[in-house]
Amino acid sequence: MAGLRHAAALALGALGVGALWRLALAQPEEACPSGSCAADDPALLQKQARASTRQAIHAGLDAPLGQAAAQPGPAPPVPDGWEPCPGLLYGTPNTSFAKAPSEEEFVAALAELDLTAVMDDMTQLMTDSQSCWPGDWGSYVGLFTRLTWHAAGTFRNTDGSGGDGGGRQRFDPEASWEDNTNLDKARGLLWPLKEKYGDGLSWADLIALAGTQTQWASGMPFKEFCFGRLDDEDGAKSLPLGPGEMQEEMAPCTGPVNGMCQMQPNETALAPTTVGLIYVNPGGPMGVPDPAKSVDEIRVVFGKMGHDDKATVALIGGGHAFGKCHGACSKFEYEEPAGLPPNMAFAEGTYPYVGKCPNLDGGVTGMGNATWTSGFEGPWTSTPTRWSNEYFTYLLDYEWEPWLGPGGAIQWRMKENPDDPRMRLTTDIALIKDPEYLKYVELFASNLTALNEAYDFSWTSLTSNGGGWSTKKICVPYGPPPAPGATTPTSMLNTDPR
Ligand code: HEM
Ligand SMILES: *[C@@H]1O[C@H](CO)[C@@H](O)[C@H](O)[C@H]1NC(C)=O
Ligand SMILES: *[C@@H]1O[C@H](CO)[C@@H](O)[C@H](O)[C@H]1NC(C)=O
Ligand SMILES: *[C@@H]1O[C@H](CO)[C@@H](O)[C@H](O)[C@H]1NC(C)=O
Ligand SMILES: *[C@@H]1O[C@H](CO)[C@@H](O)[C@H](O)[C@H]1NC(C)=O
Repeated sequence: MAGLRHAAALALGALGVGALWRLALAQPEEACPSGSCAADDPALLQKQARASTRQAIHAGLDAPLGQAAAQPGPAPPVPDGWEPCPGLLYGTPNTSFAKAPSEEEFVAALAELDLTAVMDDMTQLMTDSQSCWPGDWGSYVGLFTRLTWHAAGTFRNTDGSGGDGGGRQRFDPEASWEDNTNLDKARGLLWPLKEKYGDGLSWADLIALAGTQTQWASGMPFKEFCFGRLDDEDGAKSLPLGPGEMQEEMAPCTGPVNGMCQMQPNETALAPTTVGLIYVNPGGPMGVPDPAKSVDEIRVVFGKMGHDDKATVALIGGGHAFGKCHGACSKFEYEEPAGLPPNMAFAEGTYPYVGKCPNLDGGVTGMGNATWTSGFEGPWTSTPTRWSNEYFTYLLDYEWEPWLGPGGAIQWRMKENPDDPRMRLTTDIALIKDPEYLKYVELFASNLTALNEAYDFSWTSLTSNGGGWSTKKICVPYGPPPAPGATTPTSMLNTDPR
């Protein structure tokens, strides 16, 4: 076993990193940075036109919020059998404004809220897979955990902006960030709870609870969950996070291109390497699958988010105990396979992220096992609906090699078991390329209790950081999580692409 440890470095050399870099960069934007070589490629021109529409819409965000972004139109065309969840437009309003209770109203309603009933309903919802957006392996633990993480991970300690408080992921700019692809589905699935419990259950608390409660119900022993986050009525407080003029002024990208924004990390309040991502490029710096270079990005970005090395390793590997990446069809074959972000979709009178990947088994296009979100594909562990430290043990015990996955992105697989669906991102491999990170990977691989404690600590700080708390904060202690098999399948079902 020891011989296999630290062996992933060899895989890169053996497969020819040069070829992989070229694949990583074989995307029109990067290949033609000036746009000059695009003149006679209609597909490329169309893509560039879309990109500038996207920018224009983003720029428009600096105009007063609270005005309708779209005119009501006829029901938009969607693929056969595709039907949005009933709560979709509540979780992602098609106007840039939604009424919220005042702090007094909220605090009074929260005092009346049956907190344990809300928490139990969330556990039920986790495995109540809906045909409008089926849960992978019958559970929403992965999707909801990513939702919570992306809402909370906007926090930056440079100027204190961001964080889950305010529940602003429902609105632009955050709703349309590339990193938040398909999280409109998660927020839509939460709507029935918001509708049932009303003013006492804020969207911000609901979003924080979604990932916390489902991970607890899937085996992670959290100590408590605290309610009391207020909702904003629009996305104004996220304007400093970008993209837009306010961000360019308050927290500019200090690199030559978006994607290299942390070149002078101390000269900007901006936290991610890429405006529109929560953190770093999962494929490595500028998409180049070099895990050692990814280390520096992760350290700066998670540092600005308020996490030290131990918390960073616990969060990345603990979070990836659950769920999977989605990249069922190749982005080289299907133009914008995820569909359009909310700002563009609403401007065109359609729904956000109507996916395009065909379902070859008679299922619905663009959802379930035909979902495209990030373009990477596969789970990290053999039990993606159950808490474990397998992420860490497999990182150490197997040699991982990069390859071009089915979604058209470079990801890592086990060299000895290339057909095993378990995968790693370049940023995951980075955790064994730095001596400090490696120390914690080894700790968490050998001691589950140490992982439990570190994950509880770092997840709690992740979901509490930032403003947006009311004067009332009520914490509910958790008992031990339900036993394996009580609520979810315990082993991986082979129901996804590859
Ligand atoms: C370096 C930092 C990280 C990177 C680059 C990263 C990247 C990604 C990517 C590319 C996906 C696939 C999305 C999709 O295609 O559906 C994903 C999924 C996921 N991430 Fe991360 N992640 C990071 C950190 C975290 C953290 C800190 C957590 C939570 C504590 C987390 C939790 C998850 C979960 C639960 C999923 C599965 C989503 C699902 O099943 O639908 N990630 N991540
Ligand atoms: C916007 O959402 C409302 C429901 O909140 C819906 O009635 C209306 O048709 C939507 N408009 C568009 C353009 O989708
Ligand atoms: C940025 O600041 C951190 C501490 O806040 C320091 O460790 C680091 O060396 C600084 N980096 C640069 C490039 O000045
Ligand atoms: C595992 O970690 C826990 C929590 O930090 C610690 O109390 C325990 O001693 C560790 N166990 C071993 C065998 O090192
Ligand atoms: C994909 O999902 C459809 C239902 O949406 C199902 O009929 C099919 O068997 C699934 N395919 C795989 C490979 O799991």
